Amino acid sequence: MLNNKTVVVGVTGGIAAYKTAEIVSRLKKLGADVNCIMTKGAQAFLTPLTLSTLSGNPVITDMFQKPEKWNVEHIALADKADFFLIAPATANVIGKVSSGIADDFLTTTIMATHAKVIFAPAMNVNMYNSPILQENITKLKNLGYYFIEPQEGNLACGYSGKGKMAEPEIIINHLLDFLKKDLEGKRILITAGPTREPIDPVRYLTNKSSGKMGYALARCAQQRGAQVTLISGPTNLDRPRGVAFIPVESAEEMLVEVKKFYLEQDIIIKAAAVADYRPQSYNSQKIKKLNDDLQLQLERTPDILSFLGENKGNKVLVGFAAETNDLKENARKKLIKKNLDFIVANDVTLEDAGFNYDTNKVTLYYRDDTQQDLPLLSKDEVANCILNEVNKLLNKE
Ligand code: CTP
Repeated sequence: MLNNKTVVVGVTGGIAAYKTAEIVSRLKKLGADVNCIMTKGAQAFLTPLTLSTLSGNPVITDMFQKPEKWNVEHIALADKADFFLIAPATANVIGKVSSGIADDFLTTTIMATHAKVIFAPAMNVNMYNSPILQENITKLKNLGYYFIEPQEGNLACGYSGKGKMAEPEIIINHLLDFLKKDLEGKRILITAGPTREPIDPVRYLTNKSSGKMGYALARCAQQRGAQVTLISGPTNLDRPRGVAFIPVESAEEMLVEVKKFYLEQDIIIKAAAVADYRPQSYNSQKIKKLNDDLQLQLERTPDILSFLGENKGNKVLVGFAAETNDLKENARKKLIKKNLDFIVANDVTLEDAGFNYDTNKVTLYYRDDTQQDLPLLSKDEVANCILNEVNKLLNKE
């Protein structure tokens, strides 16, 4: 499955390095040309001899090491690679890469490569949850780097919590997912983020949507070969690479842009949290406070998804439902009313799921009355599950 693929495995200093030996062995068995780079810290946990024996290639441990086998310069490894897997990835290497530090062979090569770079973090739970690390991860994700979430469990440091490197099998499956170009040639329109409905020049109505789920869908669809158009309400996220990006503010503007693009799409996913109401009239001057209460008259915004459902044709159409109660009943109603193929529903009151989290726990409801409950996953993983279902529907037609 990995024939003709070059995988560079970067190993940094963590006890999970022992699992990397198994990853390297599996990658080799799948046919990959595996080249390992070990930092100094990594060599305290695992010997280069282990990885060179398993990979069949010399292991790079030093910036100025003389090439042994290949007849190319070291930096050419950056060009040759199809994937970079950093496993385990310490907080230190994540921090260095996110800050543009390239002071050893691994960080230098990561900076030079155009290949996909995938980090499998492993560290103490408090380090993992530290705002510094989380900010670095967010920055790297927005730049197109990929992360395989660590798992919960007992950690080598004696703590228990999130920080255990994902198991080799999960990591290998992620790499194989990257090879999937199952959406090649497909056009997909994704809407994301909240909308803003203006009241006056300084005020608006909006909601808590961060846009993370929609952006994850855009990123993953692009990785899987689709031609992606992302129509987004205002967010703090960087636009995903390789995606046609259309910023909008209000529901009305989103509808206008959707109407420009919807006809040519194979797939439409409406992850945006579109405001259902807007002020009936816009005050061109700032509303001054009065002694009395202020009444704002609201009117309905256009329901973009209903419009798409009425004009569905043979497109795959997916909606979202964020609920606080009666998840199944509410989601099913929307699925039928808006003429969707399936709906992604989540209970926004759950911990670690919904607005602004990097993880989500969703249930997919289908037209034939079946449902699929997904566990708590990263938003990228949820995105890939949704795209797997979309792909099944495309192949049915
Ligand atoms: N949606 C839309 N246009 C709107 C409102 C919602 O396209 N004006 C889409 C959202 O992108 C999402 C789905 O419809 O895919 C959500 O359905 P909706 O019935 O609007 O959910 P809520 O806004 O949560 O509505 P309710 O208050 O009825 O729960």
